[in-house]
Parts: sequence; structure tokens; C-alpha cells
Amino acid sequence: MIKKCLFPVAGYGTRFLPATKSMPKEMLPIVNKPLVQYGVEEADQAGLSTIGFVTGRGKRAIADHFDISYELEAEIKGSGKESLLTSIRDLIENNDFSFTRQNHMKGLGHAILSGRNLMGDDPFAVVLADDLCVAAEDGEGVLAQMVKIYEQFRCSVVAIQEVPADQVHKYGVIAGEDMGNGLYRVTDMVEKPSQEDAPSNLAIIGRYILTPDIFDKIEKTEPGKNGEVQITDALMKQAQEGCVMAYKFRGKRFDCGSIEGFVEATNYVFENVYLKDQAEQAEQDQKKGSK
Ligand code: G1P
Repeated sequence: MIKKCLFPVAGYGTRFLPATKSMPKEMLPIVNKPLVQYGVEEADQAGLSTIGFVTGRGKRAIADHFDISYELEAEIKGSGKESLLTSIRDLIENNDFSFTRQNHMKGLGHAILSGRNLMGDDPFAVVLADDLCVAAEDGEGVLAQMVKIYEQFRCSVVAIQEVPADQVHKYGVIAGEDMGNGLYRVTDMVEKPSQEDAPSNLAIIGRYILTPDIFDKIEKTEPGKNGEVQITDALMKQAQEGCVMAYKFRGKRFDCGSIEGFVEATNYVFENVYLKDQAEQAEQDQKKGSK
């Protein structure tokens, strides 16, 4: 059973400056919740309750967000606003949170390696909070889907989606043997290839399940694309020696690392999640009132 989930959150968020000058980019809100909370909710839904963060300087707000604010709770008690804290309070009660720091920015592979002590010798998930994933119509989140794939194959799993050919340079891109039902057994993996060098248009998005041997593989991985230690290269070693599965998930994904994706996600969540929740709440309140 997978119980752990790692969030690399040390990045600077330069694309959102000046908003991210003194605030972590993961705390930017999509409507009324910070981006990182959506990722933790997705992990919680998948039954991953040991949450580790690889943070950096200037990221304390994330640790504060996943801790109880007694002062605030006391302040709003009896004001009718208590329910606004329910979602975060439930996450805090149901999960354990630990933090470690990445002192050097040497790439995603290095960030994941920095979380080794938090994840230990168990398989674990990785969430890049920039990628906001909204559950499929049946309500099953992307991580919950991936946990099932892991249980079937017992090897690392990456989430993929088809992207236009002129976008492949932004992603890790896979090639694989098509096994049906959106599953591929990975045969090749290239970090941010040019359009000409891309092995396909199947791009890795920010959801992974990794077996713990990944840590030794990362340690032996030389800096790759852009001089950074790439998780894609370490995963390629796992694929060569054993197995890595790629999975075309069900649901929607927004690239909230870009301004356009962030705005798109905001509009989507406002219309399809926030307004619906409000309408449901109003209906419940009305029922209660008429009793
Ligand atoms: C990272 C990974 C890349 C992956 C992407 C998904 O890149 O290195 O393989 O496709 O996340 O969001 P980054 O976006 O951090 O540059």
C-alpha cells in the first residue's frame, strides 16, 4: 500500500514575480484555496497520508498553512465563517506533514533525492503542485488512479497526456509499448526534447509514483538537460533495468506554472467547483431552515 507523498516546493516561481517575491508560488490561490492544498487534497483522496515537503528559503507559509491556527479559529468562532476552514482543518487532522529543505537548486531529481529521509524505503507519490489536476467525472483523482496502476504493476508510474508537437520542449516525453486502456510500458524518455528529437507527443505531467530504488538511481545520475539532475533520466534507468509504466490519466490538468494556465484553472474551478459548492450549500441551508 502506498501511504506517502512528496511535494517538491522549493522553486522560486519567477514567472509570477512580483507576486512571488515574498510569498511561495504554491500559496497563490485558485479561487479560495492555495494551489498546494489542491495537491494535498488529491493525495488525501488517494489514501496518501504521510505528506513530505521539500521546501526552501521563503517557504514557511506552506508549513503554517498545514498547521492549526488556534488564534484564527478562536477569532472567527461564532461568526458563521468557521466552515471556511473546514477543508484545511480536515486535511490537518487526517494527515501527517513533515518538511525538509533543499539548499541547492539542482533540478527536480535532486529535489526528490532531498526528500529521501522523509520517504524512506517505501514506494511514494510525487506531486508537482504547479500542475493542478481535476478529478475525472466519476470523481476519481489522478493519484488515486495511479495508485491502482502501481498495485497492478509494482513499478514506477508516470502520468502522461498528449500535447501539441510545438509544446513537447516543455516536458519529459516518453515512448512506450501501447498496452491499451491508456497504459504504456516505457521504452524511452527524454527531458524537454526539441520537436525533432521528441520520441512522441506523450508528455509527463507532475504526478509520479516512484519505487524507492529511484534514490540510488538519482545519486548516480549526472546533471542532464539545463545542467540539472533530471528525474526523467533516473526513471529511464529504471525503465531499462526493470519497468516504468506511463498512464494517460482521466481528468483535467492545468499548467498553473504559467500565467495562462493559472487563469484558465481559476475560471474552471470558479465555474465548475466553487459555484457548484455554493449552490449545494445554499440548498442545504434552505432545507435546514424550512424544517
Ligand atoms: C518537470 C519535469 C518534466 C515534466 C514536468 C511536468 O519539469 O522535469 O519532465 O514533464 O515537470 O510539469 P519543470 O516543469 O519543472 O521544468
